[in-house]
Amino acid sequence: MPLKPIGGRRILTFAADHEYNQGMKTDVTSWIKNRRSIRRYRSEQIPLEAIETLLTAATYAPSAHNRQPWRFAVITSLATKHKLATAMGQKLRADLEADHVPETVIALDVNRSHERIVNAPLLMLLCLTMADMDTYTDPQRQHHEWVMAVQSTAMAAQNLLLTAHTLGLGACWMCAPLFCPDVVCHVLDLPADWQPQGLLTIGYPAEVKQKTRHPLATRVLYR
Ligand SMILES: Cc1cc2nc3c(=O)[nH]c(=O)nc-3n(C[C@H](O)[C@H](O)[C@H](O)COP(=O)(O)O)c2cc1C
Repeated sequence: MPLKPIGGRRILTFAADHEYNQGMKTDVTSWIKNRRSIRRYRSEQIPLEAIETLLTAATYAPSAHNRQPWRFAVITSLATKHKLATAMGQKLRADLEADHVPETVIALDVNRSHERIVNAPLLMLLCLTMADMDTYTDPQRQHHEWVMAVQSTAMAAQNLLLTAHTLGLGACWMCAPLFCPDVVCHVLDLPADWQPQGLLTIGYPAEVKQKTRHPLATRVLYR
């Protein structure tokens, strides 16, 4: 990428910058469009180097006030996966029983959730912390601040999912921890300020998925 010295600093020329961005745009857009949520994985383990690449990519997401409120718990041990899946399954079962869902449906649901968690070679629990975010005395602005932490954490997750795709890994976000944060924090012995947002299951894909999107016209207004 050619650099041009201007005023004692080296900055990208407009032409070079433009060219560079064009190349990037094609690549990034196709990675974005080809990524799919993958829920079945081969049994191979994921190298530590790849795990660190995923985490680093996540932390390069934008964040409100650049406070980087995301936190990650990385789980590779089968024993921990079992413990987590069992505890989360108990809470899922209790919730479904309270909703009077038939036992056959509950059993299927709990079993499917358990299998997905224990069969993923890698789990990453995505959390946020409010520890470094601004604090307000009024609940409304405090809520907005929390929403910004959620938004920042979701952006980190998207970086992670896309990077997984570029590494040949499949991944899927499971929302289940949102419904049992205390259970998850207890099993994983997390710091008190970590708020679970989602569980990312990750592994080398054992399925191919296709998804379409609603037409832009149904989602966009030009004003
Ligand atoms: C916040 C969030 C929560 C999700 N929760 C789940 C989930 O609990 N279980 C699941 O199988 N997929 C879950 N997904 C994945 C979506 O189902 C998936 O992204 C959607 O169907 C579009 O498919 P695609 O990712 O392949 O484009 C979640 C995705 C997001 C962003």
